[in-house]
Amino acid sequence: MRILVVGGGGREHALCWAIAASPLCEKLYCAPGNAGIAGQAECVPIAADDIHGLLAFAQDNIVDFVVIGPEAPLVAGLADRLQAASIKVFGPGAAAARLEGSKGFMKDLCARHDIPTAAYIRTGDRATAVAWLDRQTYPVVIKVDGLAAGKGVAIADSRQQALAAIDAALTENRFGAAGAELVLEEFLSGEELSFFALVDGKTALPLAGAQDHKRAHDGDTGPNTGGMGAYSPAPALTPDLETAIMERFIRPTIRAMAAAGCPYKGVLYAGLILTDAGPQLLEYNVRFGDPECQVLMLRLASDILPALIATSDGMLANIHLRWRDEAALSVVMAANGYPGHYEKDTEIRGLENLATSDDLQIFHAGTRRRHDRLLAVGGRVLNITTRAATLAQAQHKAYAAIDKIDWPEGFCRRDIGAHAASR
Ligand code: AMP
Ligand code: GLY
Repeated sequence: MRILVVGGGGREHALCWAIAASPLCEKLYCAPGNAGIAGQAECVPIAADDIHGLLAFAQDNIVDFVVIGPEAPLVAGLADRLQAASIKVFGPGAAAARLEGSKGFMKDLCARHDIPTAAYIRTGDRATAVAWLDRQTYPVVIKVDGLAAGKGVAIADSRQQALAAIDAALTENRFGAAGAELVLEEFLSGEELSFFALVDGKTALPLAGAQDHKRAHDGDTGPNTGGMGAYSPAPALTPDLETAIMERFIRPTIRAMAAAGCPYKGVLYAGLILTDAGPQLLEYNVRFGDPECQVLMLRLASDILPALIATSDGMLANIHLRWRDEAALSVVMAANGYPGHYEKDTEIRGLENLATSDDLQIFHAGTRRRHDRLLAVGGRVLNITTRAATLAQAQHKAYAAIDKIDWPEGFCRRDIGAHAASR
């Protein structure tokens, strides 16, 4: 098969690495890719949200199958456009991608189908939002309805902070159309868990669980980020909990989407929080988590490609995936200052001293090559991803590799997986 992966982050590098290893893969393209992905795929300079350019490329290059990594092209309808051109695609169409593209859509669906989620209101009217605040205790959570690259959620500890978040979206228009409507919800506390299932419209195949570290600095301090590290398996995800998540969240959602005329096909990523009253849904994403995908790919023992194709073909009932019992861990190296302002085009040295293998992979998230130099071009830049018998060993292996990387302009958290490893 001739395959195109859309995206250029660590998630897409891990997907390309797994797909390139499949005997079914004859040619692999990645748009736009990055300096690391260039080791597995031919990178083509088309942006992940250039729907027109991607469709034309797929047609001109006789691509058989397109795997869409990030949410923006899914929400913008890339899967629909490819399908209309008779090109197979992994990822939901725009109507189904509303599960991530509109938090209000997701919350209303949960309310209609009795799927546990934080109590909420949905409004674009400031006076209604303020009246709701008057009935709350703090903290409260304020979310913009649309996609905001991870910046659209504010946890407000006071009325003043809540008003600032409401005004940023509704009055100052800081999120554009994505912030024209808000979801205001109750604050929940508990351990967070990322749960992934492949869904082919009617059947769901649960994948391994993973846990992410959202805060920028050690000890879960500092600002929220896209994710600073992940590990799998997630000790919190017991077999009973997996069964409960499938029954209470995933299957009702699949039935609801099919009944609404927009059957869900792709990977469904449930962001859950384990409260004293049981698991509650924080959000749905319509793509793999980043960096959760990186650890899943290192633990997957089966060929991923038949599973992705079966997802697209509605044939998941025939697929069984094998996972290694070992633990996998990924540490994100980010540019100093991330998620705030950071320097670009700083040089990374020392990667050539690392012997990568089946259980040590350096996935690139934001790099490019200029002549023979490797430059950092994004906030999250490298994902040092390892696998070992225990989580503690995987952690040791990852940090030993990081210590050989010479990049003074970058940083990482030193406690990825530490809490779970000591359990
Ligand atoms: P979301 O994009 O909706 O998952 O929100 C991003 C992050 O904000 C989540 O991973 C949580 O850490 C936090 N968060 C979102 N909603 C809530 C909530 N209702 N209660 C507590 N924390 C939340
Ligand atoms: N790691 C969180 C996400 O991909 O949204």
